[in-house]
Amino acid sequence: MILFKRASELHRYIEEQHKNELQAGFVPTMGALHAGHLSLIERSISENDITICSIFVNPAQFNDPDDFKKYPVTTEKDIDALERSGCGILFLPPAEEIYPDETYKTETYNIGHLETILEGKFRPGHFQGVCMVVSRLLKIVSPDNLYLGQKDYQQCMVLQKLIELMGAEKRIKLKICPTLREPGGLAMSSRNMRLDQKERENAIAIYDSLMYIKNHISQKTIRDLKAETSEILTNKKFHIDYVEIADAISLEPVDTWDEKRKIVALIAAFMGKVRLIDNMMIQ
Ligand code: PAJ
Repeated sequence: MILFKRASELHRYIEEQHKNELQAGFVPTMGALHAGHLSLIERSISENDITICSIFVNPAQFNDPDDFKKYPVTTEKDIDALERSGCGILFLPPAEEIYPDETYKTETYNIGHLETILEGKFRPGHFQGVCMVVSRLLKIVSPDNLYLGQKDYQQCMVLQKLIELMGAEKRIKLKICPTLREPGGLAMSSRNMRLDQKERENAIAIYDSLMYIKNHISQKTIRDLKAETSEILTNKKFHIDYVEIADAISLEPVDTWDEKRKIVALIAAFMGKVRLIDNMMIQ
């Protein structure tokens, strides 16, 4: 695996690969890699000539400074895991490589209603920060395929919109990959490392709630499903940001379901100080 710390050097290297008509897959991450991240890398390796993974804990997307400070950093282990996965290139930039000056703070991306619903509502500014870093990364890496996890459902939609805003929808194809879970169903996440044993056991309630919604969607009203799952989560000591059932394409919340429309259930909740999110396609 080749490790790049400088954006210009990586960009030049990839340009060379493109000249040789090699196809590039890109997996952006914030590190603390787990099997979920590695499944994206594997998929990219199977579909491209070269795979680039980036690790950069992006300060601009953390609305809570404490969350940023506590974000796990396991660089040595990550490098090992990437080497073993067969990933070709790791981009590990220092912050000044991504944000050389303060101008990024004035950038805005028009991502429409995605800005103010669900994650956007509870984490103001978060998606602007995600767009800031990913737009820079896409310019540096210029991939053919971008691999993202369904685990961050709304992020996938935001980044599809970003690709369009960049006028790159013909060049960069977004590939959304399934969520990898722990044996009990808890979605793998770098933040799970911050849960103690008891919290981890309780955290399975998010998956159970999503399954409950999926299994009862034809029998119960959406209102009842949201109320019942909120109760399950509260009983397991979760502090809920949202339990929502939404149109899978627009992400607008739905009150009733006609059995035809594609819908998705989405949950965000705190277990202690750790904020967890998950989602499931219901139909
Ligand atoms: P991070 O949370 O490190 O996630 C990197 C990628 O891994 C994202 O596309 C995410 O959806 C995916 N992922 C996380 N957990 C997963 C799981 N259990 N199964 C499958 N895929 C999973 O998302 C970010 O970083 C950042 O916002 C980033 C896009 C890198 C911009 O900073």
